Amino acid sequence: MPDRVIPLARPVLGEPEERALVEVLRSGRLSLGPRLADFERGFAERVGAPLASAVSSGTAGLHLALRAVGVGDGDEVITSPFSFVASANAALYERARPVFADIDPVTLNLDPAPAAAAANVRTRALLPVHVFGYPADMPALERLAARHGLAIVEDACGALGAVHADGPAVGGRGHPAVFGFYANKQLTTGEGGMVALEDPLMKLRIDSEGNQGRAPDMGWLDHDRLGFNYRLSDIACALGIAQLERLEQLLAARREVAELYREALAGIEELALPCPDADGNRRGWFVFVVQLPDGADRDRVMGALAARGIQSKPYLPAIHLMSFYRERFGHREGEFPVCEDVGARSLALPFFPQMSEREVARVAEGLRAALHDRAPAR
Ligand SMILES: Cc1ncc(COP(=O)(O)O)c(C=O)c1O
Repeated sequence: MPDRVIPLARPVLGEPEERALVEVLRSGRLSLGPRLADFERGFAERVGAPLASAVSSGTAGLHLALRAVGVGDGDEVITSPFSFVASANAALYERARPVFADIDPVTLNLDPAPAAAAANVRTRALLPVHVFGYPADMPALERLAARHGLAIVEDACGALGAVHADGPAVGGRGHPAVFGFYANKQLTTGEGGMVALEDPLMKLRIDSEGNQGRAPDMGWLDHDRLGFNYRLSDIACALGIAQLERLEQLLAARREVAELYREALAGIEELALPCPDADGNRRGWFVFVVQLPDGADRDRVMGALAARGIQSKPYLPAIHLMSFYRERFGHREGEFPVCEDVGARSLALPFFPQMSEREVARVAEGLRAALHDRAPAR
C-alpha cells in the first residue's frame, strides 16, 4: 500500500473543540455574544497585552491597525518584502505606499539598517513582520521609530508563542500586533485574527471600524464613521477559546517536530535550516522552511517530493517581484538582494503538531534523495 500523503499543514482539532462548538450552537448566540470578549481577554493575557480586538482575519487586523495608528493617503509604510502579501497590501487599502527594505539573512526579518535608510518625511509607520514566528529586532526598530516619530504595527500573524530577548512575548510590547488564525496557524479558528494592543482608545476605534463603524453604545441606525464588517463570529471565538486552552501543548508539539526535523535534516550539504533561537529570542514555531542549496531546481525538488506523497511549497516569494507590485511600482530584480535570494530558494516542508517521527524521516529522506539526484551527469 502506498504511504499516505503528508500534507503541508493539519490543524489539531478534537474533543475540546467539538464540545465548544456544540455549546455555542446550543447557546443560540452565534455572533457578538459573550465568547467574543472571553476570547479577547484570554488572548490578551496569553501574549501579555492589556487589550485585544478579535477580527475576521489577520489581513483585516492589519488594515484596522494601520488605520488606528493614523496611516492614510500618501503616507509611506516601511515593511519587509519577505512576507505574506497581506502585510504590504494592508497599506495599499489606505492608499499608503508600502516601502520595502531588505531583510536580515539569518533571521529573515526586516533589517533595521536598510529600514532606517528608507525613512523620510513621508514615512508614517513601520510594519515589521515576525516572519515564520521568529521575533523581529524590535528594540532597534523602536529606536528608529522614536527618532522619526513613526508608529509601529507588528505583523505577528505567524508568531504566536514567540518571545523577545528583552522579555515580552511577541504581541506584548504595546504597539498593535496582529495575529492570524487561518487553519495552518499555531491556533486556528478556521479564519480569524486578533489585534493585541495597549491603548484603550485604539481598541475602541478598531472595534467600531471592524463592526460597521458602530459605537459601542449605539443602536444599529446611526453610524458615526466609516466601518467594515471584520467581525469574528462567536462560533470562531468558541473554537479559539478551546484552542487557547491547549495552546501550550500545541506550541510544545510544534517545537518537538522542529527538533526532529533539525536532527533528520542534519548533514544535507548546503541546505539551510530555520535559524536557531539566538540571543534570548524564542521562535513561536509556525512553519518549517528550508533554503535549498544554490543552483538546486526547486520545481524539480517539489516534483520529486510530490511523487513520494509529500507536499511542499515555495514559501515565501518576494512581494516586490509579484506581478501586481512590479506593474504598480516598477519594482525589479536586484532591489532587495537578500530577500530575492532567500525567496528563490525557500521551500516550506510539511509541519504540524501531530507529525510523527516517521513522517519527518520520510520527508527528510525524500529531500535528501531529491537533492542528491540534482546534478545532471556531465
Ligand atoms: C505574515 C502574515 N501576514 C498576514 C497574513 C494574513 O493573515 P490572514 O490569512 O488571516 O488574513 C498571513 C497569513 O498567513 C501571514 O503569514
